[in-house]
Amino acid sequence: MSTNEKRQAGEAAIRYVEDGAIIGVGTGSTVAYFIDALADLKDRIQGAVSSSEQSTAHLKRVGIPVLDLNATGKLTLYVDGADECDSHKRLIKGGGAALTREKIIAEASDQFVCIIDSSKLVNLLGKFPLPIEVIPMARSLVGREIVKRGGNPVWRDGVVTDNGNWVIDVHGWQIADPVGLENDLNQIPGIVTVGLFARRPANVVLVGDKVL
Ligand code: 5RP
Repeated sequence: MSTNEKRQAGEAAIRYVEDGAIIGVGTGSTVAYFIDALADLKDRIQGAVSSSEQSTAHLKRVGIPVLDLNATGKLTLYVDGADECDSHKRLIKGGGAALTREKIIAEASDQFVCIIDSSKLVNLLGKFPLPIEVIPMARSLVGREIVKRGGNPVWRDGVVTDNGNWVIDVHGWQIADPVGLENDLNQIPGIVTVGLFARRPANVVLVGDKVL
């Protein structure tokens, strides 16, 4: 993990920000550098749609208006980090438990610019345990379904998401077909969001200040 590359990536993403835009903003330590850089341009943008209470607090602290996605409609740009990224720009996200709002904003955005350091690059997704947000009463049900599929589900005990739900981290999957797995898991009742961003991958990945 390189803090310097995270900072470079956060700052490099600024070049995708257009005057007058509303920016979708992800969550995490890399995004924190982006928010700090965005603060310098705050008079040139309308505001931001935030993916978490953590990012909302940061955006407000630096004076960037936080807007409601229902009011803004489609966004032109979403900037967010990731826990893993493959060569097709498919991602594992949710290490910070903000995956649901992140996936909503990614889906609502024309361009998803993903900002990472080089430690996040992988050939095959799955070494980082796959986060899944679940409705609390479905935790055991979802866990059994994951075991049937060869995964080892571990409840992120004590963590409650911004949506009042729980997170299961799935260990032991080598994800050869990310779109297939995402589609399959999306059918299980009680799963709110799968932290695989494969059906809607990133459009641009910045590894430090370099475009992948
Ligand atoms: C939060 C996320 C983050 O983007 C991911 O965990 C990366 O975080 P960081 O930039 O701190 O390494 O998906 O839910």
